[in-house]
Amino acid sequence: MTSIAAAPGGLLTGKRGLIMGVANDRSLAWGIAEAAAAHGARLALSYPNDAVGRRVAALAAQLDKATLLQCDVGSDADLDRLATELAVLWPDEPLDFVVHAVSWSDKNELSGPYLQTSRENFRTALDLSCYSLTAVARRVAPLMRSGGSILTLSYLGAERVVPNYNVMGVAKAALEASVRYLAVDLGNRNIRVNAISAGPIKTLASSGVSGMRHLIKWAGLNAPMKRNTTIEDVGRAALSLISDLGQGITGEIVHVDNGYNVVGMVAVDAARQSAPVLVELSEQLERQKEAAGSDS
Ligand SMILES: NC(=O)c1ccc[n+]([C@@H]2O[C@H](COP(=O)([O-])OP(=O)(O)OC[C@H]3O[C@@H](n4cnc5c(N)ncnc54)[C@H](O)[C@@H]3O)[C@@H](O)[C@H]2O)c1
Repeated sequence: MTSIAAAPGGLLTGKRGLIMGVANDRSLAWGIAEAAAAHGARLALSYPNDAVGRRVAALAAQLDKATLLQCDVGSDADLDRLATELAVLWPDEPLDFVVHAVSWSDKNELSGPYLQTSRENFRTALDLSCYSLTAVARRVAPLMRSGGSILTLSYLGAERVVPNYNVMGVAKAALEASVRYLAVDLGNRNIRVNAISAGPIKTLASSGVSGMRHLIKWAGLNAPMKRNTTIEDVGRAALSLISDLGQGITGEIVHVDNGYNVVGMVAVDAARQSAPVLVELSEQLERQKEAAGSDS
């Protein structure tokens, strides 16, 4: 058991981690990478393709000696190569943590009724957004020779229906179940598996969800703490889960949403500001319905 006192330099001094899912400086993964680097971690960042890789390279230059590794989570060959490259990168030292902040859906299906979800997009969204966690965990667990922490990112749409979140909600529900199954499979190796369920934040991925602007505004008005979640909020919570501060936590879905998930009714003191958000959203849904009607 390690000491509760932080090593000089930070909570992750002497630890090595892989962060998957930095696309730009708005990415939740970037909030986590900055927090981890500030606390002394040595990092590898993975990216799916050259276009994203170029943006990540510019960001990685801001961190102290981050290594870049290419990996499309839809490819078993890429995942195998990623594990090999990590073993080569840190041959004599174990991997301590992995952050999985990856999701994908055809954005045409993040609009309108869930009922219209196609088989093809269901398969791909569930594969890239959910199965990829299991595929990664299987390959990194042997590298976590001193135990470790695996963290993924979820959203309230896993638990409740959020307009337009559609197949991503189903993928996140399966992802959260995967967290619990993986926590049991890996617990006896002292590897913890958790998720942060973050409040809505404007990012590349979230911009694909129709009406995200309204969801963000609504959450800020109606969360108990009366503000929106930031990538810094996510980074700080992640730090506690990937460091030894979280040593007794596994299989958990930790809400980092300024408390939004606990409320059962709109915030009465924000009702006047919330009303126009609802009206705009309902008008948008009406337009979607009309467009769907004229397509059929
Ligand atoms: N933004 C939000 O409001 C919010 C809220 C809760 C949870 N999340 C989750 O946080 C995670 C990160 O998303 P984000 O909002 O930071 O957006 P983002 O667009 O910054 O990150 C999504 C990442 O997924 C990566 N990705 C997509 N397909 C991939 C593939 N085949 N292989 C490897 N990587 C791939 C992208 O390159 C990108 O880096 C996602 O799981 C998302 O669902 C986001």
